[in-house]
Amino acid sequence: MDNIISVQNVSYDYVSGNTTNRGVSEINLDIERGSFVVFIGHNGSGKSTLAKLLNGFFVPDQGKVLVNDIDTADEEKTFEIRSKVGMVFQNPDNQMVASIIEDDLAFGPENLGVKREEIKERIDWALKTVNMEEYRNRTPNRLSGGQKQRIAIAAILVMKPEVLILDESTAMLDPKGRDEVMDTVLKLNSEEGMTVILITHYMEEAIRADKVAVMNEGRIVLAGKPKEVFEKVDIIRDAKLELPVATKVSVELRKLGYDIPLALTEEELVESLVLGN
Ligand SMILES: Nc1ncnc2c1ncn2[C@@H]1O[C@H](COP(=O)(O)OP(=O)(O)O)[C@@H](O)[C@H]1O
Ligand SMILES: [Mg+2]
Repeated sequence: MDNIISVQNVSYDYVSGNTTNRGVSEINLDIERGSFVVFIGHNGSGKSTLAKLLNGFFVPDQGKVLVNDIDTADEEKTFEIRSKVGMVFQNPDNQMVASIIEDDLAFGPENLGVKREEIKERIDWALKTVNMEEYRNRTPNRLSGGQKQRIAIAAILVMKPEVLILDESTAMLDPKGRDEVMDTVLKLNSEEGMTVILITHYMEEAIRADKVAVMNEGRIVLAGKPKEVFEKVDIIRDAKLELPVATKVSVELRKLGYDIPLALTEEELVESLVLGN
């Protein structure tokens, strides 16, 4: 298997003065190149800490993280790793300066020493990918939340990352904005082959993942394909998470004696009820 990221027995604590806060403990996780991986878990379960370990922002106290077989603890490679693993955060307003969008997008690659002509090509591609081409010469002030997040994604894309991490990047958006960002992310994964790691507390966003990792109290308590994960109803509940709505309904129906498979989507649920399979 071709793993772009490999997390091997990693622990990380936050130490300040004589207090220590557990961040994550004994994490093992492989991220396959080109896959779409979702981390779910309640607040404080360790998702953001794990994300920051994946791009070398944090270095493990114990164990190691490899990105393209490079150890993130190798200080000479920090810059290379950060440019390979791009991260988009929760609040789009903190991620942009109020300049013309094109200038904003040029900033990162200019610092990398990318040639002017190539920067232009990268901006064309990035704006097209996030479906924001007509905003090139505007300022971000009047954009909706979903549009701002798509520009934040474009600002990462111009760096040509191999992995895109979205840390609750849809949390502050309305349903329309969430759909826009999800569509963009799914397109990047399926059409550009980009490895995507999505951190979310919307279970519905986990359904289409190749792999779901469930976090609780700093540990990965469950990982696998969405079907394998969501059938472990008790572990999901222990992790203080809700099942996707259709899954919850199918679990209740099964309890009532209906012989139907576990559903992840409304379509699957309707199909099994109508067609009886
Ligand atoms: N800057 C910090 N200083 C001290 N403890 C922190 C800090 N950031 C996170 N933690 C602790 O690490 C644990 C995991 O937090 P985090 O990774 O932010 O979780 P999540 O992203 O799942 O909400 C929590 O117990 C939290 O209190
Ligand atoms: Mg977080």
